[in-house]
Amino acid sequence: MIRPRLAAMRALVTGGAGFIGSHLTDALIAQGATVTVLDTLSSGRRARLPEDIDLRQVDVTDTWAVSAVIEEVRPEVIFHLAAQIDVRASVADPAHDAAVNIGGTITLLEAARTVNARLVFASTGGALYGMEAPIPSDEQVPPAPEAPYGTAKYCAEQYLALFNRLHGTRHIALRLGNVYGPRQDPSGEAGVVSIFSGRAHEGHEPTIFGDGTQTRDYVYVGDVVTAFLAAGTAEQGGTWNIGTGRETSVLDLIKHIGQAAGREVEPVFAPARPGELQRSALDATAARNDLGWFSATPIDEGINRVYAWVRDGRPDRATP
Ligand SMILES: NC(=O)c1ccc[n+]([C@@H]2O[C@H](COP(=O)([O-])OP(=O)(O)OC[C@H]3O[C@@H](n4cnc5c(N)ncnc54)[C@H](O)[C@@H]3O)[C@@H](O)[C@H]2O)c1
Repeated sequence: MIRPRLAAMRALVTGGAGFIGSHLTDALIAQGATVTVLDTLSSGRRARLPEDIDLRQVDVTDTWAVSAVIEEVRPEVIFHLAAQIDVRASVADPAHDAAVNIGGTITLLEAARTVNARLVFASTGGALYGMEAPIPSDEQVPPAPEAPYGTAKYCAEQYLALFNRLHGTRHIALRLGNVYGPRQDPSGEAGVVSIFSGRAHEGHEPTIFGDGTQTRDYVYVGDVVTAFLAAGTAEQGGTWNIGTGRETSVLDLIKHIGQAAGREVEPVFAPARPGELQRSALDATAARNDLGWFSATPIDEGINRVYAWVRDGRPDRATP
């Protein structure tokens, strides 16, 4: 079977003004795809996108407006990255989190059906597998999220799988590790590389919650974009982990940032946050076998690029 080429495709990127979505939008345009971005600009920024982009300021929970955009644009593939991404906000207001992260995904699945589009959904690997999960965790590990955010992402994944069974579609969920890279807002846990690089560059000490031995699977944004591109033209539907398979501790991050800064960075320690996972890493062997994807950027190289971006004043249009 000949795989469709992204070059000839019409693509819709929800959340395309965000950190990952704006890099994906640039990569799709570079491949020759025709791209429309759907984004409320609630946390996204217009300045991250090319000036002539087709941007629709629409909320994914607005069923009528989403359908109207999809009927007009008729995308062949929809990269669905728009989300309520704040884990703590999901604990404070689970109903809102579910409305955006589950309800918004169902709205897109239904709209995609009218034009036969494939959906590639940005799920989570870092917030899905529980405290007892083997490390690295593969896709067979039963999800046991610690917050409504992970529960909603898992529920949305289940709708994708249901639509695949019900309607014979080939929708895809990518369970992302902790994505980092240039353009990432220095807020939230996932933004720790950006936050620490900023603190180090300004000559301040970064604050570590807990003793710094907690680990995450930090995967570089350029590699995550490659995973989305591979999923966009994959032959099969399904769910894949997207990570490095490696654990990096917060103390390791500080060491790498110190190397990028050319000096030793001394952290300050604050009490651990309750409910925080101690360890996390994703086994992405299946993505390598099925999608031909693997994480190519070593952590020290990725951190050097983030540090250079911070030193340059965090430009919105930075390349990965
Ligand atoms: N950054 C990570 O480490 C990470 C890890 C796992 C999964 N993800 C997922 O990847 C996706 C992108 O994350 P990101 O880090 O780029 O976040 P981001 O906040 O930079 O991007 C999200 C974008 O969605 C837009 N948006 C929010 N609510 C919307 C709504 N209701 N309707 C339309 N647009 C809306 C925002 O304006 C923003 O541009 C999200 O789905 C997130 O859950 C991210």
